[in-house]
Amino acid sequence: MSSVFAPNLLAGQVALVTGGGSGIGAGIARTLAGQGARVALLGRTQAKLDAVAAEIRGAGGEALALPADVRDYAAVEASVSRAVETLGRLDIVVNGAAGNFLAPAASLSANGFRAVIDIDLCGTFNVSRAAFAQLAKARGSIVSITATQASVPTPLQCHAGAAKAGIEKLTRDLALEWARSGVRVNAVAPGPVEGTEGVRRLAPADADAAVRRRVPLGRFATIDEVSGAVLFLVSPAGAYMTGATILLDGGTSLLGPGPFLDMLGA
Ligand code: COA
Repeated sequence: MSSVFAPNLLAGQVALVTGGGSGIGAGIARTLAGQGARVALLGRTQAKLDAVAAEIRGAGGEALALPADVRDYAAVEASVSRAVETLGRLDIVVNGAAGNFLAPAASLSANGFRAVIDIDLCGTFNVSRAAFAQLAKARGSIVSITATQASVPTPLQCHAGAAKAGIEKLTRDLALEWARSGVRVNAVAPGPVEGTEGVRRLAPADADAAVRRRVPLGRFATIDEVSGAVLFLVSPAGAYMTGATILLDGGTSLLGPGPFLDMLGA
């Protein structure tokens, strides 16, 4: 897709993208690389990271696969060090790694709740914390991918809603604490995004049509649209933005919770 941004906007910069092996994270990595950034892809599955890295290299970019679990602080810290050793610096961190599934709160296990909080919220803290010193050196920025579940009560996703709300609050706290270090911290909150594991998992065939019908703009987001919002935030156009969450939901949250109630079988 042709970009509305100036070409090579990120030339000379290095980005680390968690969840970079698939879906939204991979799309963001491709977009940042397409704008000249060298990218490090962090995720749990080496083969997926390798495939995205190969694709970026094939398109003339530079990419490094860093297999690690964002829940493991030591592994995250080692990955950040490796990214800096190999690619020379660190300007941009995108927290895209996430986990979610549909489960009623009354039967969700404590471990299931914790797993999602650990990946989404603790993982975002771990990566941001481990990258802070390098980002301060580069006067760089962080963008975390949240979701409308952070602010719109959504049945069967209390684990992800709590985690994403936590990330949006963490975004504001880190933005304030790190502003004088020159590190900006923002978030992007998409609704359903076409062609992602999220939609496959969370909008099962029977609910999918109702969820789609309800989006005021009449369709789900594309991965490119999420990547574009991230690119805006990390670019000079976003230089005065920090502590913000860009809502990217085609207007759905203007309506409050809706057909979601159907999912409760009420
Ligand atoms: N419904 C209810 N509970 C579930 C569940 C589901 N669909 N899937 C997992 N869990 C529970 C497990 O039962 C387990 O709890 P238990 O030990 O009490 O049984 C707990 O969650 C951890 O599951 P496990 O598979 O061991 O965790 P993991 O660390 O390997 O995986 C997940 C983490 C569960 C978030 C997994 O779905 C994942 O890796 N997702 C990543 C991709 C993704 O979700 N993408 C979409 C983002 S929108």
